[in-house]
Amino acid sequence: MEIIQIDAAACNHDGLCVQACPVAIIEQVEGAVPRAAAGAADRCIRCGHCVAVCPTGALTNTLTAAADFLPVPGDVPTGGQTKALLTARRSVRGFRKAPVPRERLEQLLEVARRAPTASNSQKVSWVMIQAPDRLDRIRAMTIDWLTLDPARAAYARAAEQGRDVVLRGATALAVAYGPTDYAWTDVDCAIALTYLELYAASLGLGACWGGLVTMASRFTAGLAGELGVPDGNRVAGAMMLGIPRQKHFLIPPRNEVRVDWL
Ligand SMILES: Cc1cc2nc3c(=O)[nH]c(=O)nc-3n(C[C@H](O)[C@H](O)[C@H](O)COP(=O)(O)O)c2cc1C
Repeated sequence: MEIIQIDAAACNHDGLCVQACPVAIIEQVEGAVPRAAAGAADRCIRCGHCVAVCPTGALTNTLTAAADFLPVPGDVPTGGQTKALLTARRSVRGFRKAPVPRERLEQLLEVARRAPTASNSQKVSWVMIQAPDRLDRIRAMTIDWLTLDPARAAYARAAEQGRDVVLRGATALAVAYGPTDYAWTDVDCAIALTYLELYAASLGLGACWGGLVTMASRFTAGLAGELGVPDGNRVAGAMMLGIPRQKHFLIPPRNEVRVDWL
């Protein structure tokens, strides 16, 4: 059976499905009902666009179950609201001791899984760490790594004085990882982490990238395992999360855009 099924009576021959397909598996002779190209089943990346762009609902793809599609919400934020979120989001480095309720963390992951991935590969996996003893071990191993590098001595000194320079008092750490041998692991995970961070900000949660712990995991035996990342995978990034105990009243300055218009 062809994976692309088109109801000829409902199809308006607009070719939108052909245009939307990223891997060119839908063909159309001008003015005719489109059809699946040879080898479509093997090449389809299950992105769902052919179904999602059809204005008449004429097309189904057997590799993407119709029941799994969601309606597009009518209340997407305005440009002004989106700009406010993107520019007012700040790295948060002060958290309350109360943990983030699990359902809130689940909501973050639910949005992050919608982030784009190369060829819709969806190879991003997560570990959500909340256990205080595990967070303590991760912090301690990262500080051990920090003390090895004289350039990072200030962190080590601050840690000696009891400041949490690694996790900033966050009560949760979201770790994103993917296969070591996959070219897009770092990019896909970074985008997913960015979705997570922005959605966290919109829900009033605090977030901050865990760059130190990520770097330390690359050079410290056992830290990737403590982060819950299985062998054969790469810790691509981590996000500290918690209920913020700080609020930013101003948007700090940033460099002007560096761009060449060609
Ligand atoms: C990849 C990456 C790694 C980072 N690692 C850390 C970190 O380990 N600890 C920390 O406090 N902030 C970390 N940050 C936050 C940056 O310091 C922060 O984004 C930058 O100072 C700008 O502030 P803003 O996020 O509020 O705009 C990291 C940010 C990125 C993007």
